[in-house]
Amino acid sequence: MLSRRALLVTGGSSIVVLGAGYAGLAARSSIAPAQAPWKQAAKGFGDVRLNAAAYAILAPNPHNRQPWQIRLEGEDRLTLFCDLGRRLPETDPPDRQITIGLGAFLELLRQAAAEQGYRATITPFPDGEPGARLDERAIATVQFVPDSNAERDPLFGLVLERRTTRTKFAAGKPVPEETLARIVAAADAPTGLAPLQASGTSDPDTVSWLKEICRRAWEIELRKPETCHESAVLTRIGAKQIIADPDGISLKGPMMEALHMAGILTGPKMDEAGSTAWNSTMSFYTGLIDSAPTFAQLIAGNSRTDQLASGQGWVRMQLAAAREGVGFQPLSQVLQEYDEMAGPFAEIHDHFGISAPARIQGLFRLGYAHAEAPAPRWPLESRLIT
Ligand SMILES: Cc1cc2nc3c(=O)[nH]c(=O)nc-3n(C[C@H](O)[C@H](O)[C@H](O)COP(=O)(O)O)c2cc1C
Repeated sequence: MLSRRALLVTGGSSIVVLGAGYAGLAARSSIAPAQAPWKQAAKGFGDVRLNAAAYAILAPNPHNRQPWQIRLEGEDRLTLFCDLGRRLPETDPPDRQITIGLGAFLELLRQAAAEQGYRATITPFPDGEPGARLDERAIATVQFVPDSNAERDPLFGLVLERRTTRTKFAAGKPVPEETLARIVAAADAPTGLAPLQASGTSDPDTVSWLKEICRRAWEIELRKPETCHESAVLTRIGAKQIIADPDGISLKGPMMEALHMAGILTGPKMDEAGSTAWNSTMSFYTGLIDSAPTFAQLIAGNSRTDQLASGQGWVRMQLAAAREGVGFQPLSQVLQEYDEMAGPFAEIHDHFGISAPARIQGLFRLGYAHAEAPAPRWPLESRLIT
């Protein structure tokens, strides 16, 4: 009886979880406290900058590291810093993806300020652009200027709906051309920090070429011990871990709770090539790639400001996808900058005729899937520094 025990089937193995029962597992798998910032964004924090930041912390960011640190300055400014301990040195050696996430934060901050009748004037890297890696210098300063003409952004209404889709897309349902065109057109922010070029395709040959290279890149990332380890230690399994550390990669739900309780799905197991947990991780993500009917990409230069601009365009495309009811997931592996990925990285850029200083900053799969629950976030208060 499922009320007393749960029979869970994963890959080739079956597990019977006794005691807690499936209903018990379902009850204990709620991660509501980790999702509270999505509900609190609209509540108002008594300061236009905090009100805006409460939305900005909902920005997409790599491995959900939430690297933003916010320092309020005087009455009308804030400075954005990167929490350097939240970078991803293995999968993101030059801190490029982390910078993109900070750019997405700035775009949501700008949109949320405009909602309140303020123009957010963003000055990127006021103390100079960092070099090979980010450093202690500010990412941006933002001034909030009351402006009755500040144009509200129609995408803002989608901020609380935006999700990174991690389920398979419906088979045989590519995103229609006009819909894709609207998503791609959304990339240009009204106050974009640098030029961007976005495009998308459902052409079957291009889609199957992209799936093949994404699969290969995923396998490289998972087989490299250092990159696999980086993700494994940042994986939170089950509600208890997710609520304690509402960042990283979260695996939630009754099935995950049961596998975790059975000792099959644990951080160390995910780190062990060939284990059930590792094999499931491999096939889960490969399945996501294989289900993609449509791809999009975002191309830009690669200065630090270009990376921030890419974050602006990235979140705008994702908000537009949410508006269109289209699922959207980045597939970043092939764009990563370590030696083992150099071959696929060069291949994808050659394939599309893109050469330095331009590069692909974001590659996304798009399609139709059920809506997902919001990803965990640290509360705003925990991201403020003095
Ligand atoms: C630069 C960047 C790279 C990302 N790469 C991936 C990726 O390769 N695969 C993936 O599933 N999600 C990727 N994400 C999405 C994040 O994991 C996601 O934004 C984060 O977990 C928070 O979830 P949310 O977007 O649903 O709020 C990326 C996000 C950013 C900004």
